[in-house]
Amino acid sequence: MKEVKAALIGLGFMGSTHFRIYNELAGVRVAAVADIDPVKLTGDISKVIGNIGGGDNSVPLDMTGIATYENAFEMIAETDADIIDICVPTPLHTQYLLAALKAGKHVFCEKPLCRNLEQLAEIREAVKAADGLFFNAGMCVRAWPEYDTAVKLIKSGAVGEVKSALFRRLSPSVDGNAWNNWFMKEEMAGGAALDLHLHDTDFVCHLFGRPHAVSSFGVRGVVSDKGIDHIMTAYDYGDGKLITAEGGWCAPNNVPFEMSFQIICEKAAVKLDAAGFHVYWNDGKIETPDTGDAALPTGWHRELEYFTACVRDNVTPDRWQNPDSIFDSLTVVMAEIESATEKKTVEVKYV
Ligand SMILES: NC(=O)c1ccc[n+]([C@@H]2O[C@H](COP(=O)([O-])OP(=O)(O)OC[C@H]3O[C@@H](n4cnc5c(N)ncnc54)[C@H](O)[C@@H]3O)[C@@H](O)[C@H]2O)c1
Repeated sequence: MKEVKAALIGLGFMGSTHFRIYNELAGVRVAAVADIDPVKLTGDISKVIGNIGGGDNSVPLDMTGIATYENAFEMIAETDADIIDICVPTPLHTQYLLAALKAGKHVFCEKPLCRNLEQLAEIREAVKAADGLFFNAGMCVRAWPEYDTAVKLIKSGAVGEVKSALFRRLSPSVDGNAWNNWFMKEEMAGGAALDLHLHDTDFVCHLFGRPHAVSSFGVRGVVSDKGIDHIMTAYDYGDGKLITAEGGWCAPNNVPFEMSFQIICEKAAVKLDAAGFHVYWNDGKIETPDTGDAALPTGWHRELEYFTACVRDNVTPDRWQNPDSIFDSLTVVMAEIESATEKKTVEVKYV
């Protein structure tokens, strides 16, 4: 099996999660890591905190044989890795993504792809021009076992037409979790609206396509400096179905993280909540669908396993995303932020 090498930028919560996953995948190796924090480059990630998943950060990462850099541009220029994987705070993604494509590397970039629509325009141009290079973003919910299974079930027609759907992502506060506390700075993270709720916006677009317009309500500055820390949106598809999503990170630290959905269809409700993932049929039957490969337990595992396999086999990735679909959902969430800010329904202007 041809070995695929990844070079990581950022070894915080997401970078260390990706590091571990690459190490678990057969035929994949982390060749290089860049982080401005020299402590993390020794493998010491004891100060790293995340809201779900991850591993035991008191155990140092094994950096044997891995080239380390404090300057990510140097790493991009020198590494022989096939993939540059970008896991730094959101406003920094663009500069590394552009440099990586210019250096002829495939790119996996964490979500949100970037902080604003100006950066998105630059990325769009660079990705479209990068012939033969593969690009995926960390929109892991598309690949998350229960969400992916729900899509397959709905698209199969077995549960009938969707009548309404509600998606929720409620996190305990992430104040104090990240490098330089960047999540709490609206200019960096874009509040929970961009950083967290984007996952559900993206999933709504993935499942139902492009909404015409969005109507959002939000509250700012509850835990962050001035970001929208809790947002609720109705997505207008103009066809009578009610599609809504809610996301926030305002809860105290002792509140468990919740990611859930309820999709009401003609013949059944498809539901993920604290009771688990079930299909509740109208005739009273309750089923627990098989969500696939237990060796790949999260969307993070599945998206990286798939992307590295595509790079190995030189096959353009298309299972869960194409670049345009990533650009679209970012455009939609920006419209949601505008809607909540301006207190009006906003028509989404797709490029
Ligand atoms: N897909 C998901 O479910 C998910 C979950 C959490 C975070 N994220 C995203 O992943 C990205 C990283 O978030 P995180 O939670 O890992 O943050 P974090 O603060 O835990 O880690 C960021 C890391 O980047 C490093 N860094 C900062 N500036 C740098 C630079 N110029 N060059 C190199 N390294 C630099 C920091 O030292 C730190 O190690 C963000 O875009 C975030 O939104 C995605």
